[in-house]
Amino acid sequence: MAKITKEKFKTKDSVFDNFTLKNIISLMRKGFFLEDSLSPIKIGKEAVVFAAETKEGKDICIKIYRLETANFNQMYRYIKSDPRFIGLNHKMRKIIFAWVQREYRNLLLMRKEGVPVPEPIKFQQNILLMEMIGKPAPMVKDSPPKDVKKFFEEVLKNMKIMYNSGLVHGDLSKYNILNDNEKPVLIDFSHSTPPNNPIYKELLERDCKNIADDFKIMSKEEILDYILN
Ligand SMILES: Nc1ncnc2c1ncn2[C@@H]1O[C@H](COP(=O)(O)OP(=O)(O)OP(=O)(O)O)[C@@H](O)[C@H]1O
Ligand SMILES: [Mg+2]
Repeated sequence: MAKITKEKFKTKDSVFDNFTLKNIISLMRKGFFLEDSLSPIKIGKEAVVFAAETKEGKDICIKIYRLETANFNQMYRYIKSDPRFIGLNHKMRKIIFAWVQREYRNLLLMRKEGVPVPEPIKFQQNILLMEMIGKPAPMVKDSPPKDVKKFFEEVLKNMKIMYNSGLVHGDLSKYNILNDNEKPVLIDFSHSTPPNNPIYKELLERDCKNIADDFKIMSKEEILDYILN
């Protein structure tokens, strides 16, 4: 096997700091994906998302949280009151690692409940590996469904399943729903939290408002009423 060097990645993708580079290389050496198979899907402020290929030829998705994120204070506000993550204090890296772990756990739980989400594969420090949806599938924002009503009903059904399983998505909108051949797949579960979090209700109401605004089929109140009853 060709030697994997940090320098190789440095020239290829300058978005990575040293710590992250080591982490990527470690995952690659463990055999989670092939060297040279990384290609960027989305370079965001908080996270960068890459496509990669496994040795079996399967596409996977690599979500890498930046260690110097501009939105750190906001992330802290949203995770500090989650009872599962008490005692984080202001340690930046610790919080980012917990954020990644939370997304992984939330995805696992959602898979168990039958909500259409990418299958999580592995988390390691600031990196999350998961199933690739589509090639990749576009966001609803960029690729609205043909049958909006049918698609919306599917989203609504899954919001109720989430609620009944004791989790609110927390950042649900047309940006975090993929249109996978006219079927919704929900992504970006790092905000999702259980009802014993004091901000749970605020997040639930916000999700309902976003979905009402994005689909324009039911009002926020009607959506909330459907979910709660
Ligand atoms: N499993 C996946 N399969 C296909 N595409 C994906 C997958 N995960 C993420 N993407 C693509 O990458 C984009 C960014 O992913 P995501 O929404 O998880 O991160 P983000 O919004 O940048 O992060 P965050 O809000 O957690 O900081 C998505 O809009 C989607 O286009
Ligand atoms: Mg997102």
